[in-house]
Amino acid sequence: MTSATPPEPVTGPAGPVSGAVPEAASATRTAAAPVLSVRGLQAHVVGQQVVEHVDLDVAATGVTALLGRNGVGKTSTIKAIMGLISRTGTITLDGQDIVSLPTHKVAQLGVGYVPEDREVFSGLTVNENLRIAERPGHAHRYDLVYELFPELKQRASQAAGTLSGGQQQMVSLARALLNDNRVLLIDEPTKGLAPRLVQEVGKVLARAAEAVPVLLVEQNLQVVRDVADDAVVLTGGRSVHHGPAAEFLNDPEATQRLLGVSTGAEGAV
Ligand SMILES: Nc1ncnc2c1ncn2[C@@H]1O[C@H](COP(=O)(O)OP(=O)(O)OP(=O)(O)O)[C@@H](O)[C@H]1O
Ligand SMILES: [Mg+2]
Repeated sequence: MTSATPPEPVTGPAGPVSGAVPEAASATRTAAAPVLSVRGLQAHVVGQQVVEHVDLDVAATGVTALLGRNGVGKTSTIKAIMGLISRTGTITLDGQDIVSLPTHKVAQLGVGYVPEDREVFSGLTVNENLRIAERPGHAHRYDLVYELFPELKQRASQAAGTLSGGQQQMVSLARALLNDNRVLLIDEPTKGLAPRLVQEVGKVLARAAEAVPVLLVEQNLQVVRDVADDAVVLTGGRSVHHGPAAEFLNDPEATQRLLGVSTGAEGAV
């Protein structure tokens, strides 16, 4: 196992757009070394550069939100971290450089991935979907999974393809939580869900983040407000803002400029 010098922390806005500089609360949270650090990430999809320069830290606890308008490179950033698309730059997990590792090694080291389209095996039962996700050599946290998703225990023998979208999302999250991961990368878990289920997934995310730190791509800003500690914002394949999530969401000018959505003061999205 190789080790790398930990990168300098991302302590404020990067790139041309100014934003909130983490203050006392965030400084306390980020005092511990980040579990995952990305610096100068570039990535290509079918020969096109879709990630131009991304810096981000995922704190060792809680949820770091990865935000931005459609098509700015959020999914590509996550896929690049997982090694699913070709990438350059520095990616360190607990100080170890993983940028040159293939996807299965990145996963083996404890990076869990919950993709945007859930990718459950529809012909397999819920239980089989979980069993197939078990990573050899790791503890399997069925206790945590069934505590978070009691419904999955009841539906263990049901074919995953017959579940609702929300239930399939639970299976997808459960598969990542089952393994003793160091960090989870979760891409738009509330996409396409009914409002009641969005809230439910939000609660599960908050509870999951007590067990493992999360990098969360999420368009629903109420969910971000409820669960995220820090926020990183991308525009055009670049990270342009880093700071406390609440501070960012409470800044209508910044959210309008960077997300195209005007958020209100505390308590309103
Ligand atoms: N397979 C692909 N072929 C061609 N272009 C792609 C492909 N995947 C992504 N892109 C392009 O790369 C850019 C970044 O896409 P990406 O999916 O990473 O954005 P995103 O921020 O996740 O968007 P969304 O909010 O819609 O999920 C977009 O311009 C997209 O069109
Ligand atoms: Mg996406």
